[in-house]
Amino acid sequence: MKRILLTGGAGYIGSHTCLELLKRNYNITVLDSFVNSSRDSLERVIKVLETKIPNVRKKIELKIGDIRDAVFLEKIFRNNQFSKNFDGVIHFCGLKSVNESNIKPAEYWDVNVLGTINLIKFMKTYNCDTLVFSSSATVYGDSNLIPISEDQIKKPINTYGKTKAVIEEILFDLSKAPDFNLKIAILRYFNPAGADGSGLLGEYPINKPNNIFPLLSRAALSKNKTFEIFGNDWPTIDGTCIRDYIHVTDLAEGHISSLEFLFKNKPQVACFNLGIGEGVSVLELVKIFQQVNQVKFPIKFSPRREGDVAITIAENRKAKNLLNWKPKKSIYDMCSDEFTWQKKFLQKNKN
Ligand SMILES: NC(=O)c1ccc[n+]([C@@H]2O[C@H](COP(=O)([O-])OP(=O)(O)OC[C@H]3O[C@@H](n4cnc5c(N)ncnc54)[C@H](O)[C@@H]3O)[C@@H](O)[C@H]2O)c1
Repeated sequence: MKRILLTGGAGYIGSHTCLELLKRNYNITVLDSFVNSSRDSLERVIKVLETKIPNVRKKIELKIGDIRDAVFLEKIFRNNQFSKNFDGVIHFCGLKSVNESNIKPAEYWDVNVLGTINLIKFMKTYNCDTLVFSSSATVYGDSNLIPISEDQIKKPINTYGKTKAVIEEILFDLSKAPDFNLKIAILRYFNPAGADGSGLLGEYPINKPNNIFPLLSRAALSKNKTFEIFGNDWPTIDGTCIRDYIHVTDLAEGHISSLEFLFKNKPQVACFNLGIGEGVSVLELVKIFQQVNQVKFPIKFSPRREGDVAITIAENRKAKNLLNWKPKKSIYDMCSDEFTWQKKFLQKNKN
């Protein structure tokens, strides 16, 4: 039975990946400081699975602490309830807000880059050779290529994107060392969205949500709340930004496909775009969300935000061909699953 460490595993994408790994019988250890999540997300993972997997609770180990704390991190590699080294690590943990990264750049460099260096050091010491790293389409910056393939030049235009691009460079540098023996998949996510189809698990941030889907739900559920669209003068069909949204369950499955690809292959660093390969404008998304969920709310246009780009769409052939992975869920599923979850989540938080 394989054993995986998930840094940031209590977060949005991490918790959905925990769920999919447990369904496939992996044992997991979650490292998280809960700076943007809580224990509740893992309790919800257990709730989804407890009737299907006997003793599921015993298959998850939780370690609460900061990835930058070397003493804490070493303990995780040294002692664990499964008495077995990790077969692989999925490194989700990091700070992820584009806007905040321009306001608190030092914190972003510290958590994202130093945290990753710390992790790599202990992977090496404890002979763990397989790493899946959460990168982002943000590394491409203001590229005018549509769709964008993995070999495009990286030109990040905000601090968050720069931290991800630098981590990628560090990982590529490692591969040039004579004693390189790691298997690394860099996953560049496009726009993760939606929630688990059970309606029991979804995005549950401690900090103010920045992603568009939770904000759509909030507009739909609060009386008189206006949904703000940043920019209606972009060079796109309707003037609003175009994004490639990917269902979080498809994304979670992409991590498992990546682990399985790395387990079978020799040491390397490989990059994969994870998106569905189609773009939807913000205005189109608002209409689909309202139609699928039978809701209405007013919209207002505000000026463009600094750091946004007009269009990002993934060229996802490499992931489909090499990882034996294919996104299965549509933008309609994302809108419906997200709203089902948010209705429960926002309602609970009101009480
Ligand atoms: N959600 C997106 O839109 C998106 C898009 C592209 C890339 N990513 C990347 O994917 C990864 C996961 O994103 P997410 O949406 O699940 O974010 P999230 O904030 O929900 O999850 C990140 C987790 O890391 C934890 N964490 C943060 N700093 C930590 C530290 N110093 N030590 C230990 N734990 C820490 C947080 O508590 C949180 O649980 C991030 O690296 C993010 O940059 C996310």
